[in-house]
Amino acid sequence: MAELLSIPRSVEWNETYITILNQQKLPFQTEYLELKELEDVWEAIATLKVRGAPAIGITAAYGLALAAQRYDVSSMAEFQEQLQKDRDYLASARPTAVNLFWALDRLVVSATAATSVNEAKTTLVHEAIRIQAEDEDTCRSIGEYALSLFRDGDRILTICNAGSIATARYGTALAPFYLAKERGIHLHVYASETRPVLQGARLTTWELMQAGIDVTLITDNMAAQTMKTKRITAVIVGADRIAANGDTANKIGTFGLALLAKAFGIPFYVAAPLSTIDLATKTGDDIPIEERNSEEVTHLAGTRIAPEGVTVYNPAFDVTPNELITAIITEKGIIRGNYETALPALFRN
Ligand code: MRU
Repeated sequence: MAELLSIPRSVEWNETYITILNQQKLPFQTEYLELKELEDVWEAIATLKVRGAPAIGITAAYGLALAAQRYDVSSMAEFQEQLQKDRDYLASARPTAVNLFWALDRLVVSATAATSVNEAKTTLVHEAIRIQAEDEDTCRSIGEYALSLFRDGDRILTICNAGSIATARYGTALAPFYLAKERGIHLHVYASETRPVLQGARLTTWELMQAGIDVTLITDNMAAQTMKTKRITAVIVGADRIAANGDTANKIGTFGLALLAKAFGIPFYVAAPLSTIDLATKTGDDIPIEERNSEEVTHLAGTRIAPEGVTVYNPAFDVTPNELITAIITEKGIIRGNYETALPALFRN
């Protein structure tokens, strides 16, 4: 898969620092940033230099492991106390993607088995590396299952960027397109630009074009017209948090696409790893929705496009109710409806 391998990795561990691909600068600049302090990691996540639920989790895990290497403590009790403090700090960077909390908590739990401070430090690094490696396998598996739902010649709409740079590799919603390309199956992707931060226009098109996958960019308000005139055959999106009943938070605009898909009789798929499923959150109403800076809406590429002082509402995510979701595609298989029982069952086998 030469084309995919040419897409830079979103996150890399380098023992004394973390390298991230600065997604704010794409597609015009391929810039890498070295994160050396806990504050750098927090800032990179909060300002979307690294973004996408799994990539946020991986970066935070490395950030916590990195910070812990410098703890100057003699007892495990002091170590755990400091670790919990840093975990809480990183967890405050963004509220919606549950992968952030999932990865941080997985690290904290992994350290509890250690019998010495040195052992705990090593354990944390190994656990963070494992989270990244597992995510790559997970995404490939999601891609295999998702591809089984598509046919040669299909025209598929997506939003935001749930691709290679939003994960360890392959992506979730974009994974089937890489696998299809590898196997000579032709799928045509329609990428919704994803106002206000333009992850679709800047990142999804960039990724897919590098891999030689057919992609057509549309603005968000062209979705209905595109479904009709281009005879879209399916919609596939990623997820930031899936509640226990299947309600799914994803990038703002996703809910609208699900409603349109229903109106057109088109299947609407959510592709996500188990690390995005939050059984502790009962329904979509319980998912915290991040509201971001008003400048993301009043400005376009640094230029003001709305009057000074205008009131802005800028939710970064919306929640698609479970009844609009045809299927949720995970690394353990595809589930169709009946989410209250099917989602917990995924964790049992
Ligand atoms: O605000 P972002 O860019 O982090 O939002 C990302 C999304 O909504 C993605 O669809 C989701 O995290 C899945 S990434 C595989």
